[in-house]
Amino acid sequence: KIVVLDFGSQYSHLICRRIREFSVYAELVPYDISFEELQKLNPKGIIFSGGPSSVYNSDAPVPENKIFEMNLPLLGICYGHQLIVNKYGGKVKRANKEYGSSLLTIDNDKDLLNGIGESVRAWMSHGDEAEQIPPGFQVIGHTEGAKAAAIASENKSIYGIQFHPEVVHTEQGTEILKNFVLKVCGANQDWTMEGFIDSAVEKISKIEGNVLCGVSGGIDSTVVALLIHKAIGDRLKCVFVNNGLLRLNEEKEIEAMFKDNFKVNFTSIDAADQFLGKLKGVEDPEKKRMIVGEEFIHVFTEFAEKNGPFKWLAQGTLYPDVIESGVSKGPAAVIKSHHNVGGLPDWLNLEILEPLRELYKDEVRKIAKILQVPEKLFMRHPFPGPGLAVRIIGEVTPTKLTIAKVASRIVEDELLEANLYDKVWQAYAAVGDDRAVGVVGDERRYGNIVMIRVVDSIDAMTADWTRLPHGLLEKMSNRITNEIEDVTWVTYTISSKPPATIEPQ
Ligand code: XMP
Repeated sequence: KIVVLDFGSQYSHLICRRIREFSVYAELVPYDISFEELQKLNPKGIIFSGGPSSVYNSDAPVPENKIFEMNLPLLGICYGHQLIVNKYGGKVKRANKEYGSSLLTIDNDKDLLNGIGESVRAWMSHGDEAEQIPPGFQVIGHTEGAKAAAIASENKSIYGIQFHPEVVHTEQGTEILKNFVLKVCGANQDWTMEGFIDSAVEKISKIEGNVLCGVSGGIDSTVVALLIHKAIGDRLKCVFVNNGLLRLNEEKEIEAMFKDNFKVNFTSIDAADQFLGKLKGVEDPEKKRMIVGEEFIHVFTEFAEKNGPFKWLAQGTLYPDVIESGVSKGPAAVIKSHHNVGGLPDWLNLEILEPLRELYKDEVRKIAKILQVPEKLFMRHPFPGPGLAVRIIGEVTPTKLTIAKVASRIVEDELLEANLYDKVWQAYAAVGDDRAVGVVGDERRYGNIVMIRVVDSIDAMTADWTRLPHGLLEKMSNRITNEIEDVTWVTYTISSKPPATIEPQ
């Protein structure tokens, strides 16, 4: 395995993902990991990520000294490069900011830059540069702005590169990472999802007691359920809660998927009236969110009391959540004990089972494919936990629920038809209390206004409204006003995030 020390670059996760793509396990750890912890991980090589700091500042993050004495192959990227330059006796100084694509000329293609040609476009994002390289190092690549854009130590085990090989804008970036990981470190290409499934199933099969797993129909909880089921069969009990706030007919589709395709022990609880009853008269977005969350816990607890005892609660936590929440610094075990169980009462005394905590989303998708989860499920857009409660502005009423469900289905169907569904991040129709006059036949009608929202995004942190073809918008609008009696007007939302958000509530 390869260990990546995280110095805070927005690309740190990407380094791990790129390496895993060629079947080598890579793990992201905080830069201040202790020497002992790092030793336990037994890495074949270490990568220092980029980061926003300057090595010459007194508060610059530096790894523990002993890490350099492990004599493991080292690759520094961006800030990591400067760290190596500084550590081994070179000099780093403030330079003109270089941001974007630069032409990297290869000066020595013997090892790290082997097989990538004479020059490539490389992605730069830095304000400091190596003014003087350390003694015993040589320059193996340069750009116009950075004389020492790539350096290597004499014994060919320590490398520094100013550019980011992990981003797609760097041509042959993966080749460069491969050269380091496979040739310099000699890491094994034994990280496959088939192998992961086998070892996860083996580990889970050793646990005792029953497992409770809430399934939403989303890919993460479905894969969690299938993995655990493979290991312990009917000692796993899956619960699906219909809160009345799902997409049109979604509850039936999810039940059918589980009953027809998978042999897991599956209970569907229809709690729609209970949820909608609690939401009656409530207009405040945060209150609605809280009510849905609380009600979910009630339903879940009641199930656990009646069908228990359970020893474990399964959750679909993924690797980025583990790293970001800071729960685990370092190695991510498949099974982890935990006391504060996701909002469920303490007296249920459940331990947490998180079989996906080592994985990235694209790896979960690969597993879903191997486990024959229907394709339709993993191409589905993300859907918020509180469901239509956040897509209906103001009180959730039966009329507004029907409008949101049917209009959203029309938006989704038309995008699918136009082959655009996979290309956008999320797409739906929202509805509030605003109404506008329309004419239907000769009759004047005061109906609801529906808002179509379609956005492009990479991580939901920012989003841009999708420039859909006018003809497609027209078709959506016509279908919505024709097929839903209560709707007279359709609008398209053209606010990006920020300042807007993706969901209206
Ligand atoms: P916003 O509206 O904040 O949404 O731009 C960002 C992303 O998060 C989803 N979202 C939620 N997901 N519970 C969830 O599980 C929530 O309360 C919630 N609110 C928003 C939203 O669909 C989008 O993908």
